[in-house]
Amino acid sequence: MTESTVNVDVLPGDWREQVLALAAERDAVILAHNYQVPEIQDIAHHVGDSLGLSRIAAQVEASTIVFCGVHFMAESAKILAYDKTVLIPDAAAGCSLAETINGDQLRAWKAEHPGAVVVSYVNTTAEVKAETDICCTSSNAVEVVESIPRDQEVLFLPDQFLGAHVQRLTGRDNMHIWMGECHVHAGINGADLRAQVEAEPDAELFVHPECGCATSALYLVSSGVVPAERTKVLSTGGMVDAARATTAAKVLVATETGMIHQLEKVNSTTEFVPVNRAAVCKYMKMITPAKLLRSLREGTDEVFVDRDIADRARRSVERMIAIGTPSATAE
Ligand code: 13P
Ligand code: SF4
Repeated sequence: MTESTVNVDVLPGDWREQVLALAAERDAVILAHNYQVPEIQDIAHHVGDSLGLSRIAAQVEASTIVFCGVHFMAESAKILAYDKTVLIPDAAAGCSLAETINGDQLRAWKAEHPGAVVVSYVNTTAEVKAETDICCTSSNAVEVVESIPRDQEVLFLPDQFLGAHVQRLTGRDNMHIWMGECHVHAGINGADLRAQVEAEPDAELFVHPECGCATSALYLVSSGVVPAERTKVLSTGGMVDAARATTAAKVLVATETGMIHQLEKVNSTTEFVPVNRAAVCKYMKMITPAKLLRSLREGTDEVFVDRDIADRARRSVERMIAIGTPSATAE
């Protein structure tokens, strides 16, 4: 990794102009996930959820993609656009969910269930994707599982709460679920959610399907404790679409707090309130404005994926992007 020549704590007054000029000079497109800090969402060429950004990465004409998100997302971009240069402003931006399963663990699980179709949430490493039949994201997981013949066993990984949600909606009993979780969403506590919903009887509720904990938020929704008619279970991109459409005065938002910025941008009359203000993904926040500038200036950190792994992983990711509706916006 190249040593930085930019002090990451001090931002130049013309940061915005510098970023845009360097992006143009490098023929780079900047992609940002909905959980990025506001400055980065506001300067990116495209902001979106993991599925929407993967679709864009597969189609961009620019020779360089600067991915402001976590490492597995930048890896997915590299898999889909192998001949492009893919940069992430800090390669250490990982994902606690992706770390719950590695290639060896998946191979051992497959050996226990020969013939099962492997469905992996996109929050996985390239090595796990290479062992996968079809990837999914939170916006198309139900459609992906429904595309598999009902008599075939399914191994769904790594998120247990998304898995439980998909199982409930598809009604499949031959679906095995890996017991992984995201520490940020698992911390959005069912009890807090219930208390807030009871205190705000007119508010709508947006819930990301990774949300969980001992009393799963999704369980509260599907068991009727939290009223279904004002609850929407959505990917981060789905939340942006729902925010555009809502006429509610207040929406409670159960996901990472970076989401609020994009919701407020598309709807300035509704109040969007995080269910848990401490639901902050420290990995997403490792991508800072100063590191974005450094990335464009120095070409760091470049993302590499072994060609054989990328070729095998691409098949499962391409099947994923063929299913579901895109959710990303052009700035
Ligand atoms: P989305 O696919 O909804 O953008 O979610 C990605 C993610 O990492 C959620 O924690
Ligand atoms: Fe991973 Fe959770 Fe962060 Fe999403 S919020 S990137 S699942 S650690």
